[in-house]
Amino acid sequence: IRNGVEFAVADLSLAEFGRNEIRLAEHEMPGLVELRREYGDARPLRGARISGSLHMTVQTAVLIETLVALGAEVRWASCNIFSTQDHAAAAVVVGPDGTPEAPAGVPVFAWKGESLEEYWWCTEQMLTWPGDRGPTAIVDDGGDATLLVHKGVEYEKAGAVPQPGPDDSEEWRAFLEQLRGSLAAHGSRWSRAADEILGVSEETTTGVHRLYHLADAGELLFPAINVNDSVTKSKFDNRYGIRHSLIDGINRGTDVLIGGKVAVVCGYGDVGKGSADSLRGQGARVIVTEIDPICALQAQMDGYEVASLDSVVDRADIVITTTGNKDVVRLEHMARMKHQTILANIGHFDNELDMAGLARVPGIRRITVKPQVDEWRFPDGHSIIVLAEGRLVNLGNATGHPSFVMSCSFANQVIAQIELFTAREKYERQVYRLPKELDEKVARIHVRALGGELTELTEEQAAYIGVPVQGPYKPEHYRY
Ligand code: NAI
Repeated sequence: IRNGVEFAVADLSLAEFGRNEIRLAEHEMPGLVELRREYGDARPLRGARISGSLHMTVQTAVLIETLVALGAEVRWASCNIFSTQDHAAAAVVVGPDGTPEAPAGVPVFAWKGESLEEYWWCTEQMLTWPGDRGPTAIVDDGGDATLLVHKGVEYEKAGAVPQPGPDDSEEWRAFLEQLRGSLAAHGSRWSRAADEILGVSEETTTGVHRLYHLADAGELLFPAINVNDSVTKSKFDNRYGIRHSLIDGINRGTDVLIGGKVAVVCGYGDVGKGSADSLRGQGARVIVTEIDPICALQAQMDGYEVASLDSVVDRADIVITTTGNKDVVRLEHMARMKHQTILANIGHFDNELDMAGLARVPGIRRITVKPQVDEWRFPDGHSIIVLAEGRLVNLGNATGHPSFVMSCSFANQVIAQIELFTAREKYERQVYRLPKELDEKVARIHVRALGGELTELTEEQAAYIGVPVQGPYKPEHYRY
């Protein structure tokens, strides 16, 4: 705590660098700037305590300061051990008007390269408000903050935290350990917190899947807004953001020429489409793997070869997982890869690759070339290069998506937070999407910022196709 602001970041002296980058990013984030202009006077989030678990980057700093401009108090942590940009974290703590000696910003608990134990400690600090209170709402990315609250409540009711099993991951062990300490120190804090939480707005596909599971099982403790499936989120961030940031991660990690190489992209959903496009843009020969025939056919129509990983893995120079599924690249695949094949994951969790299995190969050597770049040398002498230890390569090896596309995503986050706080009576313990008018509003702002000119419907045209002149223009089932 310094000057009354709690924090755990790498180095507050990086704040000026962070502030300069935040200033440049604001210009590229018209959605957030417009929301500040629209709601800055009314301050609809006054009284809200928002806890955020989302990559602590420069773009997220602009989101945090937008929530503050709308009246909220905010605490933040990253949702990944490698994704924090330390200068952005420092700038948020210091705030626009503070100094490293007298910070005046927002409590942040995040640094690049946390251990798993530190990660869950940071997540708990971010959810713990003065007076041992919880937040009024959560901004989540991948669902870890929501998981901590739900499991906290479950184990409080059971009266104990279970012991980890022999097959449990390091991640899960660290999670259970954090909750054990938390329950011992705070009694029934998670149940009290859950009662006060008005809802969560979830950023990504993987977190949204977790929320639908909870809701289907009748176990969701508060309302949830699925921000990911706003069209202006998943059809832009997951696709065009990835198109930019995947090769950014590969280039910063390896500097290997992508042109001419054989790249395998596992999964052809939104992130897979952006990944394949990103690699093809550099001249790679891209092969797609899919389980879903519709996405596989889309890949073929887009000009990609579709094959199983088993049949092409020994031809690949680069292998990227984008599925949000587990065990996609297994040890048997890694063992068959060519010398110095680059292996990376851009889906939310690292379990798409069998990293634990790789580490257990008898006689294998791990040579860390630089942070987030490891050469794994098999006993037969061939190596593979694994980026970001199998965690999100674009955030581990590079700086994630650029500002403009995050402006679309985060405008939806801000709108969702306003909804949860000001229209709470509308929402039950279910998962909701934002209305299409708001999606179109977010798009409209960004079309204008890029200098685009929208065509206006005449009354007659609107009547002819059966939509209002001002929108929404498409039915809910339209797929874009
Ligand atoms: P999606 O559901 O649109 O696409 C996933 C695709 O993978 C689906 O088409 C599915 O059929 C396919 N798939 C599943 N199992 C497979 C397997 N074993 N082999 C081959 N294909 C398989 O999901 P989306 O939106 O593309 O997200 C994918 C992941 O990326 C999620 O974990 C999401 O949270 C994450 N994500 C990461 C971002 C980043 O910045 N790194 C940004 C946005 C999302």
